[in-house]
Amino acid sequence: MTQQAKSQQSGAQRAVAPQSPGDVSVLAEQLATLATLDQRIALLRATVGGRIAFSTSLGLEDQAILHGIAASGADIDVFTLDTGRHFPETLDLIAVSEQRFGLKIRVVAPEAADVERLVARDGINGFRSTIAARVACCEVRKVRPLHRALDGAAAWITGLRRAQSAGRADVPFAETDRAMGLIKLNPIADWTLAILETYVASNDVPVNALHARGFPSIGCQPCTRAIRPGEDIRAGRWWWENEDGKECGLHNNPNRKVARA
Ligand code: ADX
Ligand code: SF4
Repeated sequence: MTQQAKSQQSGAQRAVAPQSPGDVSVLAEQLATLATLDQRIALLRATVGGRIAFSTSLGLEDQAILHGIAASGADIDVFTLDTGRHFPETLDLIAVSEQRFGLKIRVVAPEAADVERLVARDGINGFRSTIAARVACCEVRKVRPLHRALDGAAAWITGLRRAQSAGRADVPFAETDRAMGLIKLNPIADWTLAILETYVASNDVPVNALHARGFPSIGCQPCTRAIRPGEDIRAGRWWWENEDGKECGLHNNPNRKVARA
């Protein structure tokens, strides 16, 4: 049998990745009709062929999705980007979650040479000096490692929610991410903070100890502060920048109206 015939045969035996924008819209509509997270995860696993990778920041959204993945039993490649500047509480939660869910979380680090060059040029905390320096730091510590982690993946699961910020208000359940060359899946796009908190509490999902200390949204330690009562949930991220610039480059989708630094 030729290689092509073999791959056609194996392709016929497994789920085929949705190829057209129409297929992806159908998947998005189907996801919207499913009430539970594990059903949504199971559907996207049954629909998309090839590797599905889930990027977790260990935040509340991602801990809920990790629970959903474990509950569904779906084969998903779970990874986190260790920027080298995380809170110790975030790193601790990796081990706690692996133990609780019996899943491995792949830890993806930035290239050492890239970090050394960046720090030599901008200083150890250069991200505070200008927005360009902050974006450069996110590029080296997050965006390039993200591309490496997603290389060869058919789809990418994230914990983006529409209610998180104005720039995320139109996050779809599924979309073709042309820049990344894959399907981007946001299975809790429609969840409010109240739904998320109820899910986490009722399923006894382990969470970052910092949430109880006023940190609803957690990124790198030097770029995240606690919020005051009444402040927006992302107010503690890059708080010295304008509201419009609060994306690190992981989710800059040219198809959507997304705030960009
Ligand atoms: S960020 O762009 O502002 O940092 P946010 O913290 O809201 O993003 O997280 C949104 C989604 O981006 C998460 O659900 C997760 O999929 C992904 N993400 C953010 N930070 C990381 C990280 N350090 N490692 C892996 N995925 C991440
Ligand atoms: Fe660098 Fe801050 Fe971006 Fe982390 S969030 S990669 S420390 S600029």
